[in-house]
Amino acid sequence: MKVLHAAAEVFPLIKTGGLADVVGALPEALIAVGADVRLVLPGLPDILKGVEGQQIVCELGAIFGAGRVTLRLGRLAHNGIAVYVIDAPYLYQRPGNPYLMPGGSEWPDNLQRFGLLGWVAAHLAAGEFDPDWTPDVLHAHDWHAAMACAYVACHPATRAATVFTVHNLAYQGLFDEGDFHLLGLPSRLMVPVGLEFHGQLSFMKAGLKYARRITTVSPTYAQEIATDAFGCGLDGVIRARGTDVSGILNGVDGDIWNPATDLLTAAPYSADRLDGKALCKAALQQELGLNVDAGAPLFAVVSRLTSQKGLDLLLDALPALLDFPAAGGPQLAVLGNGDPALETAFAQAAAVHPGRVAVRLVYDEALAHRMMAGADAILVPSRFEPCGLTQLYALRYGTVPVVRQVGGLADTVVGATQATMLNDQATGFSFGPATPAALAQALHQSVSAYGQPALWRQMMLRGMAQNFSWEAAAAQYMSLYQDTRAASASQARV
Ligand code: ADP
Ligand code: GLC
Repeated sequence: MKVLHAAAEVFPLIKTGGLADVVGALPEALIAVGADVRLVLPGLPDILKGVEGQQIVCELGAIFGAGRVTLRLGRLAHNGIAVYVIDAPYLYQRPGNPYLMPGGSEWPDNLQRFGLLGWVAAHLAAGEFDPDWTPDVLHAHDWHAAMACAYVACHPATRAATVFTVHNLAYQGLFDEGDFHLLGLPSRLMVPVGLEFHGQLSFMKAGLKYARRITTVSPTYAQEIATDAFGCGLDGVIRARGTDVSGILNGVDGDIWNPATDLLTAAPYSADRLDGKALCKAALQQELGLNVDAGAPLFAVVSRLTSQKGLDLLLDALPALLDFPAAGGPQLAVLGNGDPALETAFAQAAAVHPGRVAVRLVYDEALAHRMMAGADAILVPSRFEPCGLTQLYALRYGTVPVVRQVGGLADTVVGATQATMLNDQATGFSFGPATPAALAQALHQSVSAYGQPALWRQMMLRGMAQNFSWEAAAAQYMSLYQDTRAASASQARV
């Protein structure tokens, strides 16, 4: 089974969120179960720099507004996975965020930048650029790579089956419909039953309409996106795909997220030897300027600061958390950046509560590890969450998750109730309504539990014993690929 993954991010070369972690880990897990996997990525500066031993596969000439485009094949340094890099300096030679200009608005030529990604992926799938390696399955991730599915659907000779994974339906890749012609696709696709979305061109719809199978990153989110409340206007399109849509839960890359081997933290620890975690906590409190107090429950956030993540709820619930009587007083550490209003509000909270609230408004991979290891609990109060990875990392680090019961959070954290506690099932705390009051109640519940060391320790150990592995996900993707190939062989093209 040859599988080509098309994506815009890959850890550790370029990352804005969980998508990069998935594209960084899933290929290796698929290789471990027998697949032959390659990636195709845009030649952003960090990707050009990070892919080793690049050889020219072919010159693609002047396309999508670029003066010259070259397709190269190299390998990721850390795991040797083969990567096709689309070297198009005019479109990709821009430092920083892959999607946004330094001021925070989208690059005005994103249609060409990501149209090219999909176009190259589709031509690789057709066997046109590299006759030595033609994939059986083209797996496109998020709107950035979605257009590949439309190109494949328009090319009857392509044997590869397409799979499209929605990592986040809220980011859709919408463009001016007048620019549709830049994609070189037949105009019959630019209709409401095709790529048109309320007078705009939607890249997301290319995946949702034309991929043979659609997955998203948790079973609950797969159901949610078929509803008006979570469908971002596309729930009708998703419902129409029926059983072609499924959810496969993300995993944890245990080479990167493992408290026993993590070189980025103050001390190693494991379920058998938890003492290192106390050292990690003291070191984190010290580093962040929090009161160094082993008895103070330390809550952490590691997150993009966007409305998705529900952190405005946390700001509103903060007085209730800080006033809750607990030995030493609860503490909050926030690592995140994004929405300027949220950044300002968190910075103000830190200024008002020195020693109790600490905020780092940056993207810092190493600090994320120290937060996972040093905190007692992680907060993920998301409005919606396709999967969520930080609660999975936290479970592994014995850092108890406090989550909203939604999407992948609902699939991965067993909230403490009388029943789940009695049955030794609870791995965290959860709340339903997206309100500060509901979050405050879950926070109070967790602070009370923290005050009962034996009970807290049990929850930590239960969390650490959970196994959200990429092996399990890879097995599910492999069986999906097999089904999709079989179905593709018998289906007509558009
Ligand atoms: P999303 O993809 O929606 O941002 P996930 O929970 O799936 O959410 O993945 C977020 C990833 O980004 C995790 O690996 C998390 O550790 C990381 N992350 C988020 N914000 C930061 C930050 N400010 N510094 C370092 N890592 C961060
Ligand atoms: C998205 C989602 C997040 C998910 C990640 C990886 O960014 O917001 O929930 O974990 O993709 O699939």
